Amino acid sequence: MKYNEQEIDRRRTFAIVSHPDAGKTTITEKLLLFGGAIQQAGEVRARKAARHATSDWMEMEKQRGISVTSSVMKFTYRDYEVNLLDTPGHNDFSEDTYRVLTAVDSALMVIDSVKGVENQTIKLLDVCRLRHTPIMTFINKLDREGRDPFELIDEIEKVLRIQCAPMTWPIGMGKRFRGTYHLYTKELVIFDAEAERGTGGVISMTGLDDPRLDELLGSQAEELRADVELLEGAAHPFEEEAYRAGLQTPVFFGSAINTFGVQQLLDTFVDHAPTPLPREAVSRTVSPYEEPFTAFAFKIQANMDPAHRDRIAFFRVCSGKFTRGMKVRHVRLGREVAINNATIFMAQDRTHVDEAFPGDIIGIHNHGTIKIGDTFTQGEELKFTGIPNFAPEHFRRVRLLDPLKSKALEKGLTQLAEEGTTQVFRPLMGADWVVGAVGLLQFDVVMHRLEHEYNVKATYEPVSYVTARWVTGEKKKIEEFQKKEVMSCYIDGEGDLTYLAGSQWRLDNTMDNWKDLAFHATREHN
Ligand code: G4P
Repeated sequence: MKYNEQEIDRRRTFAIVSHPDAGKTTITEKLLLFGGAIQQAGEVRARKAARHATSDWMEMEKQRGISVTSSVMKFTYRDYEVNLLDTPGHNDFSEDTYRVLTAVDSALMVIDSVKGVENQTIKLLDVCRLRHTPIMTFINKLDREGRDPFELIDEIEKVLRIQCAPMTWPIGMGKRFRGTYHLYTKELVIFDAEAERGTGGVISMTGLDDPRLDELLGSQAEELRADVELLEGAAHPFEEEAYRAGLQTPVFFGSAINTFGVQQLLDTFVDHAPTPLPREAVSRTVSPYEEPFTAFAFKIQANMDPAHRDRIAFFRVCSGKFTRGMKVRHVRLGREVAINNATIFMAQDRTHVDEAFPGDIIGIHNHGTIKIGDTFTQGEELKFTGIPNFAPEHFRRVRLLDPLKSKALEKGLTQLAEEGTTQVFRPLMGADWVVGAVGLLQFDVVMHRLEHEYNVKATYEPVSYVTARWVTGEKKKIEEFQKKEVMSCYIDGEGDLTYLAGSQWRLDNTMDNWKDLAFHATREHN
């Protein structure tokens, strides 16, 4: 096997999808501990606390250095190189959160056993579904009195429309939580909050009829047997193919804060999660094993300090090998650029990494020459797809305070839209721009940057939209639609027709009335 192939096959690139407080930070920390990337618990938590103690983004910006390094966490586990991409969650939830999911090969879903499937998880799973992303599930906080595991599994299947294949099964919960039984390896893992990694022992059973179960679990052994019997009719057996196709999720139970169940999850993850996958481009599919280097930008982080107007564009490597200083083709601009100043994200213990392989993320410094969706190659005219804009969920009308600055306002709003901070919509009728975002914090970011980078003073006015759809169809129909719905029609930053709706009901109604037109919740970059 070639060196490159080996490097590709040992990579696993993923993100965590969860609702705030389900335990993402806690699990991340435990994963990094297993990978030796951090030395003690608390390091990731401290970063999170710094980021979330405030809803003021200027304060959050002071943590900027931290948020860049925690955007991608790399660790080694067994023989595997694992890249964990951060999905911004609390106050910093934004379109980036969605777009990170377009750069990974699989996801880990964390569910709070007390709360079950929550709102943000539903939205994130919708994004995963666009690319049939394989998902593993960790049901967390079994040390608490949570909901019935059967009910949780049923809720995941119904609400998230994905088959569940329990891999482990919990024995009691809360005060009666005794551990888990692995349905495939037949191992009983005893929970002991006081023991190292929360584990009081791992005992191999011959099966559920092993009398040692009764010795160790007492009457709870019978409960376990009854549960597993019920599972045979109620759940699906694990099938790697169904998992890889995004149709089925293997489910683990545990308690992240006690490290319990995390290693079982991690072992199954590295064994079964996909290696870096082929990527769709406009003209063809690119295999990770191809020799020429290719990559695409999925996230841009601007430096808020006006003295340093540089940005970092995050690229996912899709094929070939990246080496520092190499020349690549910036396909949209049609020119060669040399990349000397790249950040290759790496594990803490290795200070000098000068190459990156498919599945890896590199950060490239630039001054606004890179847009979301941009493709880099070694000469080929290639454009990766599947890095879309997502329909915003919050909207504000922009009122310019100095009417002479309308050109600067347009430039600012358009450039910020290209970076993926927000989206911008120009009304078909009227003059005021509307800004749309997935997370509220982005509105403050835009105002600050307009003032400091573009010297434009503006304010926001509320506007009663709740969602947007990109509209396509036959020219005549589109013209008719624009006439009838002129008050709700806008042109976005890349010139595409967008319909903004005041309520879900209105959107459904409009879609019903215009069956010949297509209403898209995402839009590819031009
Ligand atoms: P997030 O990143 O998904 O938002 O969640 P995070 O890991 O920060 O966890 C949210 C809260 O849930 C934290 O408590 C954390 O300690 C707790 N938690 C995580 N895993 C478990 C678990 O297995 N069992 C129990 N009982 N709790 C768990 P907090 O009070 O908000 O923070 P802290 O004071 O513990 O830092």
